[in-house]
Amino acid sequence: MPICKHEKENDMPVFITLEGTEGVGKSTALNYIQDYLAQHQVPYITTREPGGTPLAERIRHLLLDKDAEKMSDHTELLLMFAARAQHLQQVIKPALAAKKWVLCDRFTDATYAYQGGGRGLPMAEISQLETLVQAELRPTLTLWLDAPVELGLSRAAARQQLDRFEQEKAVFFDKVRAVYRQRAAAEPQRFRRIDASLPLADVQAQIKSVLAHVLAVRTL
Ligand code: TMP
Repeated sequence: MPICKHEKENDMPVFITLEGTEGVGKSTALNYIQDYLAQHQVPYITTREPGGTPLAERIRHLLLDKDAEKMSDHTELLLMFAARAQHLQQVIKPALAAKKWVLCDRFTDATYAYQGGGRGLPMAEISQLETLVQAELRPTLTLWLDAPVELGLSRAAARQQLDRFEQEKAVFFDKVRAVYRQRAAAEPQRFRRIDASLPLADVQAQIKSVLAHVLAVRTL
């Protein structure tokens, strides 16, 4: 399946996003990808959502704070996009304009999965905000680390402090995972499913094979 649709896109920087439910090993995968890009002399930045700028990180703090007043689903959705608007303007767009690859830990697929799937907000509302905040901008490649929810939650539970999302029950994450699955099926040219239930070396081998393919079709 081609990731690069047109020859003229070959010299464009790549906007890679990493997605998945809790405890699927995104941080380890991110470190691996960073090492791989550095080894191949790819100019890149790493960032994350919600967050990525001082203001967006303050919004992240509000979103993850488990002790705050009960947050309405729409407040949550709008804060995700408020942080994203800031992040796009301050970090993502300038990096892409400077021909740097952007490696982003979560992006708008997480909004569809968590606020659309988990919280049950209408996908059409998310789509409207996506157009408002991003216009045409979409990730080039999305690595979806997928593992059974129970496996991820047992790994996440080993962490010291659970945030507002990590405290949700398995049924919430089943809905999140189902939306990732639907989106991966709908956009096979952008999504790559990585089986994150396998041993680390196998997970890394899958990621390496995707990245090697992207590098092979890109002219840096
Ligand atoms: P992280 O734990 O991967 O850093 O992400 C923080 C949490 O934010 C995670 O539980 C998923 C959630 N999230 C959303 O609910 N919607 C979004 O749009 C994004 C980017 C993250």
